[in-house]
Amino acid sequence: MDKFVIRGGEPLLGTVRISGAKNAALPCMAAALLTDQPVILENIPQVRDIQTTRNLLAAMGAEVELGFGRAQHRTSIQCANLSSPEASYELVKTMRASTLVLGPLVARCGRARVSLPGGCAIGARPIDLHIKGLEQLGAKIAQEHGYVEASATRLKGAEIAFDKITVTGTEDLLMAATLAEGETVLQNCAREPEVADLADLLNKMGASIEGAGTSTIRVQGVSKLNGAKHRIIPDRIEAGTFIIAGAMTGGDLNIAGCEPTHLEAVLNKLREAGVKLKINGESVRVMGDNPFTAADMSTEEHPGFPTDCQAQYMALATQAEGTSVVTENIFENRFMHAQELVRMGANIKIEGRRAVVRGKTPLQSAAVMCSDLRASASLVLAALVADGETILDRVYHLDRGYEHFEEKLRGVGAQIRRMGDVFGKK
Ligand code: EPU
Repeated sequence: MDKFVIRGGEPLLGTVRISGAKNAALPCMAAALLTDQPVILENIPQVRDIQTTRNLLAAMGAEVELGFGRAQHRTSIQCANLSSPEASYELVKTMRASTLVLGPLVARCGRARVSLPGGCAIGARPIDLHIKGLEQLGAKIAQEHGYVEASATRLKGAEIAFDKITVTGTEDLLMAATLAEGETVLQNCAREPEVADLADLLNKMGASIEGAGTSTIRVQGVSKLNGAKHRIIPDRIEAGTFIIAGAMTGGDLNIAGCEPTHLEAVLNKLREAGVKLKINGESVRVMGDNPFTAADMSTEEHPGFPTDCQAQYMALATQAEGTSVVTENIFENRFMHAQELVRMGANIKIEGRRAVVRGKTPLQSAAVMCSDLRASASLVLAALVADGETILDRVYHLDRGYEHFEEKLRGVGAQIRRMGDVFGKK
């Protein structure tokens, strides 16, 4: 198991370029299941979850050429014959987003067999809303031996109101509705930019979707979709992570190739805390030369502050003057990083869904453990300002979703290196 060794104390200086959004790329890859023609995706990030999705699609009979190293990371997926419309437990357990194939498979093949994901480090994360929505579209669903089995001759358009806002649930049903007969109206949808990006791709493939990015989406079903070429949007969570890193380390960092309009809640909260930011087209410059102060933050669905930047914000709050109350409203158990930050010297008390962070506390190096993707990012940020050498274990969590994280950080002056576990490697 790889580890990171990080020596803190260096301000991040220079320019870092943002990669394509993992959470947009995953549903766009699943959308390729809806057609027998090639779907070409550019700006696919080179991260573990993309490779897992490649394996998932390939196991069903798809031809997937990941474009890492090619211009624009151009990736091509063709699902001419789907011999086995199944997602096994082996794949779903390593990546919950595998359940995104459920809707497209039942829409295209008339059947799907997908493992139930089970709980994960950040909460229970059920998929009941995906299942309920597919039933409303006319699919017959059975749950057996840990699998969801869905079947339908052809899905039929319906009015579906989500009981709770769900990102991949919205994406799953949106994909299913494109090939359903008649009109589908989805209400109380997730408004994340990744949903709008998926709809953009689906419309290029011949779907008829209006309203993606708002809470009501209308889909006129079509009988067939075509291949298409599409460029994935920049990763707003990666951008948010680097912006916070620039502020925390007292650096002067230019975050290039991002979409600042997708980051408004994060930028506004950082401004409230006194962080100096300059927006220039597709770049955000963060100037960390002044001290920042505590600001309470609550996570919300987009356009609110993203839960995927909560852990990183908590690391920043340890370095702010005063008390910040961080409230996590999306997931019930997303504070695993807090105890590790405490081990580095932070003063954090957890009270249910609230974390009370008292700053500013000097952070010290320690051996710390990554528990999930964004928790790991927050520990890297803490290590960048800690005194001494921090060793971060289980960085495979980071590799799931940050492209070349340590190279990018090193490029702007961080002292970080990857270390293979000498005992673990054969
Ligand atoms: N929920 C249900 N029933 C469902 C679906 C969701 O109760 O059928 C609940 C969840 O338990 C949670 C809330 O609804 O409490 C929101 O979950 P959502 O479905 O929106 O999360 P997701 O679609 O599984 C995506 C991202 C996550 C991100 C969340 C919230 C992808 C592939 N994943 O997950 O990203 O945290 O939305 O914004 O898009 C990450 O990248 O680190 C990550 C975890």
